[in-house]
Amino acid sequence: MEKISPVVQPFFDEDSHTISYVVWDPETHVSAIIDSVLDYHHKNITTDTKLANEIIAYIIKHNLTNAWILETHLHADHISAVAYLKEKVGGKSGIGKQVLFVQKYLKETLELKDTFKTDGSQFDTLFEDGDSFKIGSLTATAIHAPGHTPADMIYDIGGVLFAGDTLLAPDSGTARCDFPGGSAETLYDSVQKILTAYNPDTSIYLCHDYPEGKNRDMMYQTTVGEERQSNIHVRDDISKDEFVLMRTERDKTLDLPAYMFPAVQLNGNAGTPIPGEFIKLSLNKKVF
Ligand SMILES: [Fe+2]
Repeated sequence: MEKISPVVQPFFDEDSHTISYVVWDPETHVSAIIDSVLDYHHKNITTDTKLANEIIAYIIKHNLTNAWILETHLHADHISAVAYLKEKVGGKSGIGKQVLFVQKYLKETLELKDTFKTDGSQFDTLFEDGDSFKIGSLTATAIHAPGHTPADMIYDIGGVLFAGDTLLAPDSGTARCDFPGGSAETLYDSVQKILTAYNPDTSIYLCHDYPEGKNRDMMYQTTVGEERQSNIHVRDDISKDEFVLMRTERDKTLDLPAYMFPAVQLNGNAGTPIPGEFIKLSLNKKVF
């Protein structure tokens, strides 16, 4: 029997450089949305749904039944549209089970009210490593890939990978590992687990791209083989020690994401405000 390949449609948020995806089964027209974005206007502290509405229009145009709204991790650089999209097109929300660590950390450090649950109950599904699920006739697997955060997942959907922030384009490397619970050592191990488990021609869909200054167009897809051959941080001829040293030094130079405080509080609550709580900032103590 011939293997069915998923249809993959990217949506690019220029503000946070995030790439969201709709991935769907051409046999059954069942879809999943990955890493959706709510536009955020920091000056007015408002959101709008322009980008999310593009996803909805695509789903309607292709007559899709949406089954899942997946997060690769609890994002710190944009606000997830999971709650809005769930209301508009349906589907079960899913994120890695280690998000419980992140929720507990947020609650303690930002002294959030008890209306902020730390049991992951805001999400429909908390994935553990190796959990399998269906998108129509496509088989999907959630792969735990900690390092950037403790809760990062990579999704294998019909044999193609959605890498989240664990792997960036070959000329961009990897994401930072200095968030709470992050670890450069662990990220290296997660990357090796993926790059050695899959054939070189396996597609990897990226969650972010930063083409500025690289003399190329935006890219959203690479392969396992390209990453092994030329990823500037984790290609085959770079040792774990070299990677950890580089990643740790580089992370010391990075500013926090511009919208980090609203993003983590809303995303930790599955894309909705915490009842009775204002967005907390942390001006007098370093919590990240
Ligand atoms: Fe991230």
